[in-house]
Amino acid sequence: MDLLQAFLNLVVPVFGLSILLVLWPLLTIRSIIARLFRVIFDENVRGKIVLITGASSGIGEQLAYQYSKRGAVVVLIGRRENRLRAVAEQCIKRGAMDVRAISADVSKENDCKRFIEETVNHYGRLDHLVNNAGIVHSFLLEEVADSRPLNQIMDIDFWGYVYPTYYALPHLRRTHGKIIVSASVASWLPFPRMSAYNAANAAIFNFFDTLRIELGSSIGGITIVTEGWVESEMTMGKHLNRHGEIEVGENQRDIHVGPMPVAYAEECAKAIIRGALRNYKYVRVPYWYTVFLLYRIFAPEVLDFLLALFYLVPTPGRKDAAPLSKALVDIPGVKSILYPSTIRAQRSKQVKG
Ligand SMILES: NC(=O)c1ccc[n+]([C@@H]2O[C@H](COP(=O)([O-])OP(=O)(O)OC[C@H]3O[C@@H](n4cnc5c(N)ncnc54)[C@H](OP(=O)(O)O)[C@@H]3O)[C@@H](O)[C@H]2O)c1
Repeated sequence: MDLLQAFLNLVVPVFGLSILLVLWPLLTIRSIIARLFRVIFDENVRGKIVLITGASSGIGEQLAYQYSKRGAVVVLIGRRENRLRAVAEQCIKRGAMDVRAISADVSKENDCKRFIEETVNHYGRLDHLVNNAGIVHSFLLEEVADSRPLNQIMDIDFWGYVYPTYYALPHLRRTHGKIIVSASVASWLPFPRMSAYNAANAAIFNFFDTLRIELGSSIGGITIVTEGWVESEMTMGKHLNRHGEIEVGENQRDIHVGPMPVAYAEECAKAIIRGALRNYKYVRVPYWYTVFLLYRIFAPEVLDFLLALFYLVPTPGRKDAAPLSKALVDIPGVKSILYPSTIRAQRSKQVKG
């Protein structure tokens, strides 16, 4: 057996890489042609039933507006009814054929079953499921007193994607519908203080990649989106703290977002819907984060060093021991270059709803 493994260690990489060198250019040409084809024949969602989790703010809210502009029927899911109602009004103004707001917690399986059933009972079908609800945390693993906050993250950011998908699948099969998944660059870019969030995102990335193979052409497609930092309540500073409580704090936000430029949510939503309607397997937005994926594969030690340097190591001379990420955005004028104005003003009351 050892001899066989030693033989395979030698032969498989050489053989596999030689084939890849031939396949890669061919696949690239095929993918360019497929993309051109999809640009011309993208999906028309007028009158189609689109359910969006996490639609009460941020990216989900902007996605609801993009679908509304195209005349879809949007079903908005979130826990804050007042926020859902406000988004629903905007959807109608922007052209949605109809809107339904359902208050639900995606970490509860019964809630997910209920909102899928309620949607299908009311409209008779489901065409797009947008899994987007999520929360982030900002603490080191060793800072938590018990595993409760870690479970909270997994319950929302992992199970909160699996439950709606499970209950929606029979309906999506019937309509040849699509699943859109809001993951994060965190699925492969390991930002410190976000270990459980990063893990949940890596898990959903793999979950939906696997599901795409399992389902084949029985549904219309699965688009996995990996967003970088985007304007939302999350980048206003809303996060789970080490005690498992939701907190809104710009200081903590500055530490874990730091000098990464934050993209506009509307632009992000436009890129996501474009990818979904063209049935792309992956959407990376903003696209420039792709370079970090290459570092992750070819030079992980450089990435690890930079992430520790910027986000972990205390800045010399700072009394609060804040890392470089915070020190850099504290320089006057820097935030106005890197962050949209909407996330610069402290709006914790509005965010907590
Ligand atoms: N913003 C970024 O920089 C960024 C980057 C990468 C990925 N993402 C991903 O994008 C998704 C959307 O986040 P966002 O940036 O738009 O942040 P956001 O403004 O905080 O929105 C999060 C949404 O999720 C909902 N939500 C949270 N917990 C929920 C629960 N248990 N049940 C039902 N709904 C729940 C919230 O609604 P309620 O509070 O009303 O329940 C809200 O509508 C998340 O999955 C996030 O991981 C965001």
